[in-house]
Amino acid sequence: MAFDLAQPRDAADWLIRNPAHGPVFLFCPQTLAATARTFLTGFPGLVSYAVKANPDARILQGLHDAGLRAFDVASPDEMARVRAVAPGAVLHYHNPIRSRAEIDQARHFGVASWSVDRMSELDKLGALDGAEVAVRLKLPVAGAAYDFGSKFGAPPELAEALLRAVADRGGRPSMTFHPGTQCPSPAAWQRYIAACAEIAGAAGLRLHRLNVGGGFPAHRGGAAPDMQAIFDAIADAARDAFDGTPPPLVCEPGRAMVAECMALSVTVKAVDDGAVFLDDGIYGGLSEWRDIAPGDRVRVVTADGLTRQGDAEPRIVFGPTCDSLDRLPHPLPLPATIAEGDRLIFAGMGAYSACLVTGFNGYGTRRIELLQGA
Ligand SMILES: Cc1ncc(COP(=O)(O)O)c(C=O)c1O
Repeated sequence: MAFDLAQPRDAADWLIRNPAHGPVFLFCPQTLAATARTFLTGFPGLVSYAVKANPDARILQGLHDAGLRAFDVASPDEMARVRAVAPGAVLHYHNPIRSRAEIDQARHFGVASWSVDRMSELDKLGALDGAEVAVRLKLPVAGAAYDFGSKFGAPPELAEALLRAVADRGGRPSMTFHPGTQCPSPAAWQRYIAACAEIAGAAGLRLHRLNVGGGFPAHRGGAAPDMQAIFDAIADAARDAFDGTPPPLVCEPGRAMVAECMALSVTVKAVDDGAVFLDDGIYGGLSEWRDIAPGDRVRVVTADGLTRQGDAEPRIVFGPTCDSLDRLPHPLPLPATIAEGDRLIFAGMGAYSACLVTGFNGYGTRRIELLQGA
């Protein structure tokens, strides 16, 4: 039997058998392996996991066991984490701003590919000696839950100049972009891919590879996203844009690879005057709810593991710290009979959750427990 974290039952069973007294992430390795298979068999190119979404060793090990051999790392710390479980893995260092000390460390870790979005950072890399350098493009493309273009990315003209400079300095010129996180439609990828083909053509270069970034959507409510439809649209767009002979593709999913494999269980500390007070909040595992609400995949179970029934009422939900900003941005529909000691089980919480916990006021959990399938 495989656990299904989309159903609260398995997580609730675990909580009955392990009466815990604090917030806890419940990790289902089978779900992680199944998601890895979706990417490895469905994406038309190399799959590189964006470690930032969840750098826990069990996640990295699970992905490696599932067959992933490439990892997108943002820092030397992430490189060390990958090397600890996968010494032979390929590392793509796609944080476009790096200190010189970080560049030295990355070389020590054997980084295979770099990304750049400005000439000064390309200069810092010095002699390229055949290294792959992916020029990161930014376009004004809408569609994601939030856009990444405000910080990183070169506009088309600069991207073209960077591509030429990479080739002139002995590097292997690739291109990359990030359509923005939680991007439900393939339209953003299609626009970026067409632009990359134009820019490479204008630079007179054949791209070594085209890295289409992360941004794949996680399941946040309603129907689960159709990942294969996005993969197929990317493959078609690349074929069309590059006249039938696209460069080899790479993707670097973070969120969509790991969101589904963890649920977050938190406890109701108090219910008062329509408000619900939890033992975790936006300074803890629910940090992303400020910017990108994970939707409606929340279930309430009683201390004896039964799902609370009854009509839902919108409730203000506070976290445990003394800061009044520590509340979910929108009222949450919760059963009217919700009571102290109930558990809220949030499905799809494996990405940008445990890694963003602050410990503010002494709260916040990084505790991850394993759900073992029989
Ligand atoms: C360079 C790069 N690649 C991949 C990702 C992963 O994005 P997502 O989690 O939306 O798939 C990020 C996220 O910040 C990123 O900066």
